[in-house]
Amino acid sequence: MDDADFRRVLEAFGLAWRGYRKVRKGAKKRLLRVMASCDAASVEVFLKCCRRDETLWEQALRALAVPISRFFRDRRLWAVLETELLPGLIRWGGDPLRVWSAGCARGEEVYSLKILWHKLAAQGVRLPSLELWATDFHTQFLEAAQQGLYHASSLREVDAAARSAFFVPVAADRYEISSGLKQGILWRLSDLIRDPPPSSPFHLVFLRNNLLTYYGPREQETALGRVVASLVEGGFLILGAREKPPSGKWPLIRCSAHPHVFRKVPFRSDFL
Ligand SMILES: C[S@@+](CC[C@H](N)C(=O)[O-])C[C@H]1O[C@@H](n2cnc3c(N)ncnc32)[C@H](O)[C@@H]1O
Repeated sequence: MDDADFRRVLEAFGLAWRGYRKVRKGAKKRLLRVMASCDAASVEVFLKCCRRDETLWEQALRALAVPISRFFRDRRLWAVLETELLPGLIRWGGDPLRVWSAGCARGEEVYSLKILWHKLAAQGVRLPSLELWATDFHTQFLEAAQQGLYHASSLREVDAAARSAFFVPVAADRYEISSGLKQGILWRLSDLIRDPPPSSPFHLVFLRNNLLTYYGPREQETALGRVVASLVEGGFLILGAREKPPSGKWPLIRCSAHPHVFRKVPFRSDFL
């Protein structure tokens, strides 16, 4: 499949990737398998079939999903979360503290947050209860997240103490997240583009490396509107390292603590 055909498919699904050549190669391969399953000889025929057959449409969309993630991806962000954002939210945010990982892939982001939560508890911080939602539109990624098995490469930013406290080696280069960390996470199948947020209001939302990287402007605008609406005033939105809100008037200000952390305005000025 050449790039022009791939772009046509992306557009039909409301997607718009830039770059990511290696990742794109994998997505093309998965897409070709779906195309072969319905004997479509050309992209035009395939798209016609997808429009007629919702199951095929869903299969193709999921073939284009990219689950790449790792624990503590963007290390500096997690340092700021540990030392500034979470302690501030714990003082300010109420009980329970409500957090949503939107597009959680295989759970690396969600478990990273739980590791920080345990660290704060170990430091003697008085913690509220944590209501942690994790959503993705890909059933297999969600199942893998709940299973919690990882290749060593996705643990490369986990320090030695956290590695021995929260991971169990299960084979050469394979680790399982400890059963304690698996407890109390609200995993849900949910599509950012079609579905409303799984709950609200949230104090903290992770929206990293999905909506604002892979989707077209219309999809971004609508879905981001719903995500921002699900935040409490003063709540935090965390974007990926190469992402920013699409142009437009969003009730968000960039936090001085970290360039990819945004705060919903208006907010009380006695925090941070
Ligand atoms: C590259 S991973 C990012 C994982 C994690 N947020 C991170 O930054 O490390 C993107 C995830 O977003 C999910 N995703 C993509 N489109 C989605 C949609 N419309 N609704 C829900 N999840 C979606 C994919 O299935 C994939 O698991």
